[in-house]
Amino acid sequence: MSGETKEVINKKSSSKIVLEVLQIIAESLLLILKIFFYIGESLYKILVPPTLKEVKGKVVLITGTGHGIGRELALLYAAEGATVVGWDLNDKGNKETQEEIVQNKYQKCYFYKCDVSDREQVFRTAKAMRKEVGKVDILINNAGIMPCHALLDHTPDEIDRIFKVNVYAHIWTIEAFLPDMMKNNEGHIVALSSCAGLFGIRNLAPYCASKFAVAGLMESLFEELHSNPNNRIQLTTLFPYMTNTGLCRKPKIKFENAMPMLVPSELAKEIMKAQRSDQFEVGVPNYLTTVNNYARLLPRNAQIAVQDFFNTYVEADL
Ligand SMILES: NC(=O)c1ccc[n+]([C@@H]2O[C@H](COP(=O)([O-])OP(=O)(O)OC[C@H]3O[C@@H](n4cnc5c(N)ncnc54)[C@H](O)[C@@H]3O)[C@@H](O)[C@H]2O)c1
Repeated sequence: MSGETKEVINKKSSSKIVLEVLQIIAESLLLILKIFFYIGESLYKILVPPTLKEVKGKVVLITGTGHGIGRELALLYAAEGATVVGWDLNDKGNKETQEEIVQNKYQKCYFYKCDVSDREQVFRTAKAMRKEVGKVDILINNAGIMPCHALLDHTPDEIDRIFKVNVYAHIWTIEAFLPDMMKNNEGHIVALSSCAGLFGIRNLAPYCASKFAVAGLMESLFEELHSNPNNRIQLTTLFPYMTNTGLCRKPKIKFENAMPMLVPSELAKEIMKAQRSDQFEVGVPNYLTTVNNYARLLPRNAQIAVQDFFNTYVEADL
């Protein structure tokens, strides 16, 4: 290579570097402006809460409607005039929820027996319900299980089941309903993670891993949808504290009066509020996510001290 050619290449690459540096500076300034703008916007939203989206006439598919939080969600959405579709493998529980909705003379509701961990059943039930009810506007992935003992006491089948119900089921239902939502560029997907999806909890290692996975799934899905600047499909992930449904069989709460278990009907209201106000990630109570985010900035030993201070966990159920 001649000296002249080398010089031309050097000039080209140094002008490229200068351009990139200028781009970084300009985009960083814009980023700082955006950060301040969005901090202001979120403060404004705290002072002036956004109006809640209408759910009347919407088709809301909720998994795990046979008991607990899912049942309370079904009753709440039905009371707001939504057409509720409930999926559960527990047919008896599902029928009880259905009877309660019918007795209250709420909107029409549809209940299906479905094991959401089984991809084939999910697609078969989705096809049947699409024929009978129509497209889904709001999908709430709520069904979950929580075996609770030391990691080494979990059987391989148990661990497999936890991931199939708590994680894979979310993926199967998203696969079944997201394409329609994308076609119409509207819809809302809600996922039940847990406070166990924010920090590790004793006796819940596989469950915690599954709930962290749900948060990761929703965050990545957001990134995919966000790559379309016109996207109008909303995502909401909930991180609730221990709730009195029977799922947490042996809760151990240090400050029982300050941090009592949540009441399922109250939690359902918070979930609906989060969905209707298009929030992306919500702790219930609200401070859970905030405390967790700030605690993560602390040195590791300080984080352990915070966790020891609360010393709240679930005792083994064996
Ligand atoms: N209860 C809590 O303390 C708590 C706290 C945070 C998050 N959560 C999460 O909230 C969700 C609901 O919990 P819950 O307390 O209402 O539980 P629950 O046991 O009271 O009800 C769960 C329902 O899901 C159904 N279900 C389980 N596996 C299923 C499957 N494979 N297919 C279809 N349906 C299935 C069950 O039959 C049941 O009706 C779960 O994802 C749970 O992890 C619960």
